[in-house]
Amino acid sequence: MVLKALYLLVAIASLTITVLSAAIQPSHELLGKRDDDLPARVPYIFPAPGTDPIADAIRARRANGTLLALDGVLLNAPLIASTWNSLFGVIRGNTTIPGNMRELAILRIATLNNASYEWFQHESVGRSEGLTTEQLRVIRLTPVLKDTTETNSILGPLLSAMMTFTDWSTTTARVPDHVFAELRKFLNDQQLVEATATVAGYNFVSRFLLALDVDGKNNVSVPIPT
Ligand SMILES: *[C@@H]1O[C@H](CO)[C@@H](O)[C@H](O)[C@H]1NC(C)=O
Ligand SMILES: *[C@@H]1O[C@H](CO)[C@@H](O)[C@H](O)[C@H]1NC(C)=O
Ligand SMILES: *[C@@H]1O[C@H](CO)[C@@H](O)[C@H](O)[C@H]1NC(C)=O
Ligand SMILES: *[C@@H]1O[C@H](CO)[C@@H](O)[C@H](O)[C@H]1NC(C)=O
Repeated sequence: MVLKALYLLVAIASLTITVLSAAIQPSHELLGKRDDDLPARVPYIFPAPGTDPIADAIRARRANGTLLALDGVLLNAPLIASTWNSLFGVIRGNTTIPGNMRELAILRIATLNNASYEWFQHESVGRSEGLTTEQLRVIRLTPVLKDTTETNSILGPLLSAMMTFTDWSTTTARVPDHVFAELRKFLNDQQLVEATATVAGYNFVSRFLLALDVDGKNNVSVPIPT
């Protein structure tokens, strides 16, 4: 009898918490948005908070708990959305390579693939990881690097090695030995795998964004930072 009452109490309490947390979580429309939600090539799916565990897990990783236009596209295929969230959660938050190196790769891929949405989402992240406006301009304006001797004085040797690696991997898929050797000077084996997954992963991101015209950004140029 006592046990039954206790069980009922717990059930009521957890229901109350669920209802309350759904009520206090602001909706996509109310929060500071980063996107325009211009049409993509598939409809956006934005489940209300508390109604969809996969969408809620993605919210937990996003600034302000706000789903992005990208998430609204991904949620057409829930298991892709869920697995994407795990993979990119790790690439963004659980590697041991420097954050400025990661963001340089992402912004460079956005430039090379002309994926303006990717640049819009990551310029502020790059700045918060320490990339300067001068460095962002190098990332945005330097023609494709083909040679490891092309160390850029504004980037310095580590970021230049990452940029050359990114340029080869993105534009030709194969990375020559001498380019990989340059990166190896700075990174251990774990970090080499993390850097490679970051570059491959964000090429996946940009190809996904462009093919589905996420946030209607295909007709917008990658901005030049000032
Ligand atoms: C989060 O919300 C605040 C307040 O609305 C807004 O100023 C900020 O730009 C938002 N951040 C992001 C990354 O959307
Ligand atoms: C990944 O990093 C986040 C913080 O960025 C941390 O909370 C989480 O425990 C880490 N996950 C693993 C598996 O190390
Ligand atoms: C780009 O395309 C979107 C539709 O996807 C449209 O709403 C927007 O006005 C276009 N912008 C430009 C600059 O052409
Ligand atoms: C990038 O895309 C924009 C918008 O479609 C276009 O105006 C620009 O010419 C493209 N840039 C390159 C280098 O292809």
